[in-house]
Amino acid sequence: MTSVPAGTEPPRLSAIWAQARGGVIGLGGAMPWSVPADLAFFKSTTSGCPVIMGRSTWESFPERFRPLPGRTNIVLTGSIPTAADTVDGHAHHDGAIWTDSIAKALSVANEAPRSGNDLWIIGGSRVYEQALGLADLPGVIDGRLTRAVVTELDVTVPGDRCAPELDSEWAMTELGSGVEERGRLADADGVLHPAHIAYRFLEFTR
Ligand SMILES: NC(=O)c1ccc[n+]([C@@H]2O[C@H](COP(=O)([O-])OP(=O)(O)OC[C@H]3O[C@@H](n4cnc5c(N)ncnc54)[C@H](OP(=O)(O)O)[C@@H]3O)[C@@H](O)[C@H]2O)c1
Repeated sequence: MTSVPAGTEPPRLSAIWAQARGGVIGLGGAMPWSVPADLAFFKSTTSGCPVIMGRSTWESFPERFRPLPGRTNIVLTGSIPTAADTVDGHAHHDGAIWTDSIAKALSVANEAPRSGNDLWIIGGSRVYEQALGLADLPGVIDGRLTRAVVTELDVTVPGDRCAPELDSEWAMTELGSGVEERGRLADADGVLHPAHIAYRFLEFTR
């Protein structure tokens, strides 16, 4: 990964999530589905750029899959792990940089190497809500979050976390669609069962 040279356009602050009908994004600390096509889309969309997430989203990734490779992983928490090492003024732990505010997370993201032009907010619900409400942010286009990339899954599943609602300020473009033949969906106990899952990749901008 190469750093974007100084003097180029500032990065765009973007969010990415997958949601089922009713905006469901999570259940019991995990996603109530498995959709390999969406995981591949998430990987290709965010690779090379910093990703910012809440501590619960970090913990939702199996240990062997974190940190997400090829991306600076920045974790928000009110309690920086005591085992963290301080490097260049930042708390490093478990392959991620831990911060206690969105402003600090964005500052770290802005300094991080990247091969693309986005800083990605990757969840969960609390972090999406906060990030969408911020304005006058230094160092990002328009000083706010201006792009959301949403995978819409055409399924009904139980959930305890939801995506933020995007109002009429946002314009939508469909990027692609398909049917996941190797999908799995959670039942009320969170147990996954095989399912074919229709999906659309959507981009919202404002
Ligand atoms: N479908 C999708 O695309 C998608 C994407 C991401 C996550 N998810 C799902 O969403 C769920 C997790 O989301 P969640 O809403 O429960 O939790 P979350 O947003 O991932 O994490 C919440 C935690 O982040 C920390 N935090 C958040 N804002 C902060 C701030 N401004 N300053 C400092 N720390 C801050 C706090 O950590 P401390 O408690 O340590 O202080 C807080 O408890 C899981 O079910 C996950 O699978 C789904």
